[in-house]
Amino acid sequence: AAWEKQVRLSSTPRRTNGFSVLVTGAAGFVGSHCSLALKKRGDGVLGLDNFNNYYDPSLKRARQNLLSKHQVFIVEGDLNDGPLLTKLFDVVPFTHVLHLAAQAGVRYAMQNPQSYISSNIAGFVNLLEVAKAANPQPSIVWASSSSVYGLNTENPFSERDRTDQPASLYAATKKAGEEIAHTYNHIYGLSLTGLRFFTVYGPWGRPDMAYFFFTKDILQGKSIDIYKTHNQKEVARDFTYIDDVVKGCLGALDTAEKSTGSGGNKKGAAQLRVYNLGNTSPVPVGRLVSILEGLLSTKAKKHVITMPRNGDVPFTHANVTLAFKDFGYKPTTDLSTGLRKFVKWYISYYGIQSKTRKESQATGESG
Ligand code: NAD
Ligand code: UGA
Repeated sequence: AAWEKQVRLSSTPRRTNGFSVLVTGAAGFVGSHCSLALKKRGDGVLGLDNFNNYYDPSLKRARQNLLSKHQVFIVEGDLNDGPLLTKLFDVVPFTHVLHLAAQAGVRYAMQNPQSYISSNIAGFVNLLEVAKAANPQPSIVWASSSSVYGLNTENPFSERDRTDQPASLYAATKKAGEEIAHTYNHIYGLSLTGLRFFTVYGPWGRPDMAYFFFTKDILQGKSIDIYKTHNQKEVARDFTYIDDVVKGCLGALDTAEKSTGSGGNKKGAAQLRVYNLGNTSPVPVGRLVSILEGLLSTKAKKHVITMPRNGDVPFTHANVTLAFKDFGYKPTTDLSTGLRKFVKWYISYYGIQSKTRKESQATGESG
């Protein structure tokens, strides 16, 4: 009963016509930022996260602490737990789901392929099954990925470009998510909006991402690997600052149609939507490193590898015309400005020396 009270309290909106949003992956990087932004504007937010140890779970706990200070409660559980999800929808008439829980990361798929199938495919289907049976049916906005463009060579990437050449199992599961969403929209009239994020970075970010561990390794004097493409060109990414992505997510929620409960092929039924949320200006990884060197006043020990990494695509570059037209999405943070904010957070969270030393002692490293 105490649990139920907390669930209700957290998910009750404080503004008139406010939303009641279930945010999956709320202890994650993007999920924690979106949960806070929704709560701050008066929406009700309930988080769901399994706190898996793909990366340091203590960072997820720290995000959870931050959220709890703002009265956002995170239920600890898995997307694949049908009875738990059904119970949440029984207790709360969610108007929206912001589905961000997933097995992220491109390279880890070669170590643990099943985790991608389990969270990104089975878990997504489980969530859609519960949402379809809920009354009211929520509108769903979910995270797809720029990785669906795979080896696409159109530049920049538009939503209509081909997505039939995934370069990693991660990309394949994100692409599968889009197909699955299409069927749930078509058959059950669920309102579904997919957002293709482009390499998101910022404070409270993911330690498995390059900008994050480059910062750590540069500060610790360790060498960093910089990969090239097949034809020895620099790899480039359309790095997108977290605050821009949060605005995009809220814009997509605000403009989502209502679910109609039946037959997406009926007139007036909700449309399936898919949008790019990128920064529109790709930056070579070498440039990312030199910005970090400047911000950290330290030279990186660069180890250039003349081969691409398995699963990597040579470049990403978003055309965001559609998201601008439909919900005014306009990225405003360039990479230098965004990285400055990230580094400021990183140093206040870990300290320049103390924490990194402790960490290296804990893992038995000497330097
Ligand atoms: P993240 O790993 O920080 O957040 C995901 C959260 O989901 C984690 O806290 C994890 O514990 C949780 N989770 C994973 N599987 C779960 C399951 N089966 N049940 C319950 N919880 C589970 O990642 P993020 O960077 O915040 O990414 C959010 C979403 O955006 C993901 O869907 C990711 O694939 C997508 N995405 C991210 C980026 C990026 O650059 N960060 C780019 C493109 C797409
Ligand atoms: C990121 C996220 O990790 C994925 O979850 C997400 O889906 C994807 O963005 C996306 O946009 O869809 P990625 O761009 O590969 O994937 O992010 P990083 O792993 O941080 O790599 C960024 C760049 O740094 C890549 O070009 C990569 O080649 C390069 N890199 C990475 C190196 O040069 N050296 C390294 O040691 C690691």
